[in-house]
Amino acid sequence: MNISRRQLLAMTGATATLAATLKAQAAAKASAATGLKEAYKDDFLIGAALSATIIKQQDPKLMALVNKEFNSITPENCMKWGELYNENGSWKWQDADAFVEFGSKHNLHMVGHTLGWHSQIPDSVFKNQDGNYISKAELEKKQKAHITTIVERYKGKLAAWDVVNEAVGDDNKMRDSHWYKIMGDDFLVNAFNLAHEVDPKAHLMYNDYNNERPEKRQATIDMIKRLQQRGTPIHGLGMQAHIGLQTNLQDFEDSILAYSALGLKIHLTELDIDVLPSVWNLPVAEISTRFEYKPERDPYTKGLPKKVETKLAKAYESLFKILIKHRDKVDRVTFWGVSDDASWLNDFPIKGRTNYPLLFDRQHAPKPAYFRLMDLKR
Ligand code: XIL
Repeated sequence: MNISRRQLLAMTGATATLAATLKAQAAAKASAATGLKEAYKDDFLIGAALSATIIKQQDPKLMALVNKEFNSITPENCMKWGELYNENGSWKWQDADAFVEFGSKHNLHMVGHTLGWHSQIPDSVFKNQDGNYISKAELEKKQKAHITTIVERYKGKLAAWDVVNEAVGDDNKMRDSHWYKIMGDDFLVNAFNLAHEVDPKAHLMYNDYNNERPEKRQATIDMIKRLQQRGTPIHGLGMQAHIGLQTNLQDFEDSILAYSALGLKIHLTELDIDVLPSVWNLPVAEISTRFEYKPERDPYTKGLPKKVETKLAKAYESLFKILIKHRDKVDRVTFWGVSDDASWLNDFPIKGRTNYPLLFDRQHAPKPAYFRLMDLKR
């Protein structure tokens, strides 16, 4: 068949029109869809971490997105020890209260984060002015005051607490934190007991990063068994799931089975998938990890190449297939943020990069990964 140049141009135009129509249809499908929380309502809760800025700004479009897609929220920072006190030691409730008010108003499942952690807590909690450690009894007193006050304040409103965060170290031994040095396992046992005494209905979790990996999983299981032998009220296991495109997802399935064999419900508490080149040996989520900015470590400032976008979508899809398969064991999957523009991974572990780890892009539009997760439920 002989096609003239004019005919060819007309055909290209028709293809473009068709492509535009399909795109418009896809957008309509997206906006008509009921959202992730509805799609996964028979599987598990779908959560997002919300920053104090998001809560403060109350951007109507973003709020509508949160309400459409998510039924659980976690405060990204405002309930951490270091955020809850003024310099003079008095309580600073404003952001945490605003978070709880937002969740209550919209009837969302809320998770408190976190009662016991080595990060985002001042050294002065553990040390005297002369730089020496305070006594175990003194630290226990501070821990009790802290946990009982905050758990009591939000009792009946927060459904669950990340009681202790990251107590196992990267060497798969108990982390040598100030908490652990002064209190040993009592740091954890007391934290769970105190939270449980104040709010017996709250679901209490242990939370950590990289704990889907076999060695850290084993160290965590050993720790949990010690706690359980002491009758510690621990109900759930949080895998933060700060992962990368290379992460071995089979580890998640093995971990879901292993942790739930301890009688614990499984939560993915801080899910995001880092697409940027990793310049360190281990993708470590320990927040003090820092590396220098170099342009080659930030290759996608002008947009994510299609190939990587597809890899990201596939990784999300593969992970969710495992989660759906074990939906009887998995209670919740929470993303660490809503959209790429506000992800902590733009600044961690290198400041000022352009990362693409979440389901919504910088314009808050759903990404191919989002549609894959929706398609899994069609
Ligand atoms: C991160 C926040 O997203 C950042 O805004 C903050 O600067 C550092 O902490 N594991 C956790 C979370 O349990 O609390 C951390 O959140 C990410 C790693």
